[in-house]
Amino acid sequence: SFVVELARSGLTLQVPAGESLLTTLRHNGVAVPSSCEQGSCGTCRVNVLEGEPDHQDVYLSQSEQARGDCLMSCVSRARSEKLVLDL
Ligand code: FES
Repeated sequence: SFVVELARSGLTLQVPAGESLLTTLRHNGVAVPSSCEQGSCGTCRVNVLEGEPDHQDVYLSQSEQARGDCLMSCVSRARSEKLVLDL
C-alpha cells in the first residue's frame, strides 16, 4: 500500500494493495474521469507534485514516465511511500 496526499483538497488517503488509486480516490469522493481503466487511454491522468510514481501504464512515453510529474491513476502506483497529487 501507499499514501497519497491531495494538495488541493487536503485529504490524505491510504491506497491498499489490490485496489487502484482511481478506486481509492472515488471511494473518497474525488472525481477523476476514466475510460479504459487499463492504462492505455490517458483519461485518468493525475499530476504528481512529489514522490516517485510506479508507472504501470502503456500510455506515457518512456521520457514522460521518467519525468514523474503525472501518472495514470487506473493502474499506476508509487515507488515512494507517499505521493503528493495535484487534486
Ligand atoms: Fe485509460 Fe486510465 S482510464 S489510462
